[in-house]
Amino acid sequence: MKAVIIKKHGGPDVLSYEQVPDPVSQKGHVLVKVNYCAVNHLDIWVRNGILGKSVIFPHILGCDICGTVLEGFGGFKKGDKIVVYPAVDTSIPRVSFGIIGGFGKYKGGYAEIISVPMKNIIKKPIWLSDKEAAAINVSYLTAWNMLEKSRCKKGDTILIWGANSGVGSAAILLAKAKGLKIIAVTSDKNKTILAKKLGADFIVDRSTKDVTLEVLRLTNQVGVDAVIDHVGAKTWPVSLEVLKVKGRMVSCGTTTGGEALVNIRSFYSKEAQIIGAYLGSKSQLVSLHKFMKLKKIRPVIDSVFDLKDAKDAHKKMEESNQFGKILLQVSN
Ligand SMILES: NC(=O)c1ccc[n+]([C@@H]2O[C@H](COP(=O)([O-])OP(=O)(O)OC[C@H]3O[C@@H](n4cnc5c(N)ncnc54)[C@H](OP(=O)(O)O)[C@@H]3O)[C@@H](O)[C@H]2O)c1
Repeated sequence: MKAVIIKKHGGPDVLSYEQVPDPVSQKGHVLVKVNYCAVNHLDIWVRNGILGKSVIFPHILGCDICGTVLEGFGGFKKGDKIVVYPAVDTSIPRVSFGIIGGFGKYKGGYAEIISVPMKNIIKKPIWLSDKEAAAINVSYLTAWNMLEKSRCKKGDTILIWGANSGVGSAAILLAKAKGLKIIAVTSDKNKTILAKKLGADFIVDRSTKDVTLEVLRLTNQVGVDAVIDHVGAKTWPVSLEVLKVKGRMVSCGTTTGGEALVNIRSFYSKEAQIIGAYLGSKSQLVSLHKFMKLKKIRPVIDSVFDLKDAKDAHKKMEESNQFGKILLQVSN
């Protein structure tokens, strides 16, 4: 089969489109023909490498998959369209699970065929195209989990960083459908226009405005009920500062680094909470599909690249030059 593999960690140039052996059937697993695989920031972390985390080279990235089962099993027959729930068992202590195509032993979806545990297979919702179905399993599931963990109710105010990102754009769409008041952060005029179109009530362009001052102004100095923070070190201090009394910051990412300097006194004196979110459960993915159908939400897709052009897709994401999900078309 054709696949994009990495033989070492590094920049986009380590992504190599090659002929590789097909995966073989294993007990409890099923072979899936990959139709689309979305690009996620995790792919960049794994491609670059993180100290203390390992993969077995050659490795195949990609955790966000819509495909076709090549063998029947359980309630599935050969040819059924499916999506892959990306979490897999891990033996790493104090980590909830591993992720397909992430660090660990599972090869991912930048390949024509993938072997995944049968228990990770979910029927593709028929009302979503293959492209749309591949865009949901990571960013949308994580945003959904974060919104649930934020415990926001209709009418509450939420701050969402990085409106153009996979997680940020998903959070805006889902938060809007839940009736929340959204303050979204962007970094240029075009992203501001698109964030407004998605449904953000207020936008703060961080390239021209101080986010803390602006959020406090917009909330009459009260602060927000919750923050969706996927950016990490650079945004944590602001995220905690703009929380109202008993506010919740939900964190899922470290795009700008994993060690932040925060004001602990301000944090405890308003009895705020920091909550971690890691992907979401398989049952949350099924509930998310139902919610999106009910509310007629379709994922925001920025662009589709051919699998062989995965390098360009990575470059686009690293330049934050997208609005919504970037996808790889693997087969038709
Ligand atoms: N825990 C989980 O299960 C989970 C699941 C999915 C994703 N994640 C993590 O969540 C993060 C986002 O993932 P993604 O795939 O959505 O990434 P992405 O599409 O590449 O988005 C990156 C975002 O970071 C923003 N950003 C970068 N520097 C910033 C700064 N200094 N201040 C404010 N915003 C900044 C960018 O906004 P601008 O364009 O405005 O700079 C952009 O919106 C990644 O770290 C990823 O690993 C975690």
